[in-house]
Amino acid sequence: MKFFIDTANLDQIREAQDLGILDGVTTNPSLMAKEGIKGRDAIFEHYKTICEMVDGPVSAEVLGTTFDEIVSEGKELAKIHEHIVVKVPMIKEGIKAIKWFTDNDIKTNCTLVFSAGQAILAAKAGATFVSPFLGRIDDSNWDGVQLIEEIVGIYNAQGYMTEVLAASIRTPLHIVRCAAAGADVCTCPLPSILGLLKHPLTDLGLQQFLKDAATMK
Ligand code: E4P
Repeated sequence: MKFFIDTANLDQIREAQDLGILDGVTTNPSLMAKEGIKGRDAIFEHYKTICEMVDGPVSAEVLGTTFDEIVSEGKELAKIHEHIVVKVPMIKEGIKAIKWFTDNDIKTNCTLVFSAGQAILAAKAGATFVSPFLGRIDDSNWDGVQLIEEIVGIYNAQGYMTEVLAASIRTPLHIVRCAAAGADVCTCPLPSILGLLKHPLTDLGLQQFLKDAATMK
């Protein structure tokens, strides 16, 4: 399973990159706004900086909602850097645009996916990635990981090439369960990635090893 970081914050991307396990980045308009980025030029510059930091796909989301808007924005975004993947919402116009991008060799990430039916449509349109939002599903009292399992099962049965990108991760356990469910990619906030490191027995064991090591000096 590939590890993407779900942020537009450069320090966090750098920290994940330093771990040596980062395969890509996802952003969305909320994450970009959180960084205080305003205006087309600043947005494009920020995406370029991220693309130059990470050797892998960087999802940049379109802001338009009509076919024409999505296609024209997506074409501009794709020109920023070869790492850019155009992130398109799961709406009727979005599916039409994803098919257009597929036919024109532009990579896409179909976002805001909450059902297996939506994931089938995204795959049929040729999306490079599909992003089921499992944390938001959990927030509404459904099982998000179950949806990941269902989509992985359907894609395997049908031979779809679209990669399942588990999104809206809230905890380290989400990451572990997505790996077990067969997700191709997990996009995570930095604290969830770092949370995978933690175990109290590791801390206790290391403490003891260091104490014993000191007696040998
Ligand atoms: C996915 O690409 C989205 O950016 C993200 O995972 C949404 O997560 P949230 O539900 O925590 O906002």
